[in-house]
Amino acid sequence: MFKNIVKNLEPSSTLKINEISKELERSGKKIYKFGFGQSPFAIPSNVVEALKKNASHNMYLPMQGLCELREAIAKFVSAKKNYEYKSENVIIGPGTKELMFLLQILFDGDVLLPAPSWVSYYPQAILSRNQTHWVQTESENNWFPSAQEIEKIILKNKDKNYLLFLNSPNNPSGQVCDNLEEISLVVKKYNLLVLSDEIYSELSFEDNFKSISNFCPEKTIISDGLSKWCAAGGWRLGHFIIPNNLNHLRDKLKVLASETFSSVSAPIQYAAITAYNSDQSEYLKKAKNILKAVGEYVYENLKSNNVIINKPKGGFYLMPEFLNKKFSNSSEMCDDILKSTGVALLPGSDFGFLPHKMIARLSFTDFDGTKFMNNLEKDTKIDFKLISNFAPKIVEGTKKLKDWSESI
Ligand SMILES: Cc1ncc(COP(=O)(O)O)c(C=O)c1O
Repeated sequence: MFKNIVKNLEPSSTLKINEISKELERSGKKIYKFGFGQSPFAIPSNVVEALKKNASHNMYLPMQGLCELREAIAKFVSAKKNYEYKSENVIIGPGTKELMFLLQILFDGDVLLPAPSWVSYYPQAILSRNQTHWVQTESENNWFPSAQEIEKIILKNKDKNYLLFLNSPNNPSGQVCDNLEEISLVVKKYNLLVLSDEIYSELSFEDNFKSISNFCPEKTIISDGLSKWCAAGGWRLGHFIIPNNLNHLRDKLKVLASETFSSVSAPIQYAAITAYNSDQSEYLKKAKNILKAVGEYVYENLKSNNVIINKPKGGFYLMPEFLNKKFSNSSEMCDDILKSTGVALLPGSDFGFLPHKMIARLSFTDFDGTKFMNNLEKDTKIDFKLISNFAPKIVEGTKKLKDWSESI
């Protein structure tokens, strides 16, 4: 009854761990929900107000997205990149996940995925029947591929088209790519298409976020949306920015959009105009201040001789490697951690690492971000007292994990 390509697919592991954690909690076990990653903050209140005001919009909107919203996004993005994007360059989708899926469906070629990569790129490649090549990475290179690693794969068959996924700041590693320029040289040399997944870019802990589009704008599709910086994952609004020279690709994407989701919910699109047109700098400053402090707390208190971690640079995640020979794969290790400590993590194998690598993804968002934010003065330095007051499960869960790492 099922096609072969879907037979072996499981529900997305991030959504699965969320459900397992909730089920264990219902059965009375204390669970530290470090598996699922979503913003712990509330949506900025003026954006929520805008949604209320626009609830009566009931018409289908244009398949590329509401023009005023596309204009707002183009202006917002152009101010940050050295490229003048216009509303025609923007396409709105029900989350970037759907847009990325449609991109993979229309792309005729092979997909280059750094290991680690976000959990859905690979299943979407399978569903789109795209051959995937994993590009190996090292912690010394912030878990991003070097230009040579990418080139090594391309040189095996130079005649193919390639679509390279780059995600910085990265889920799962929490790292930022700082070899964009050398990667862009390979991109230009072999005419690659790049999907630059910048969904965490507004949550970079440093101010100087750089996109690969700064180096090769005409080869780069930028992917971003409301899900992370605006804490509106459940609203399902994302966008692609596609440069003029890829107009033909944008037009085909529009066709696929029109045959699948038609257009994104009208009230959400109207509300999103406010998200992009209003000044959210105070909200973002506080959100980043909290995430950086909480992430660094976990990093400082978990790292040891047998737990290797890179300090988080943006977003919600860090990626510990537990040096041990007790488990045969990272999934078995994460099951043991959950059973013996109540800490839910995701195994590195879900992100493309070889199963024997004892790597896991840890999401440091199990706290009430609204309460934390509301109790923060403008430039408060976040110390241990604040973290233990407003993120007690982070403190407890980190200690449990540290104890576990010393016991194996
Ligand atoms: C790296 C990355 N890309 C894309 C997405 C999907 O975001 P959206 O809500 O826009 O579909 C996520 C969400 O978890 C993510 O972590």
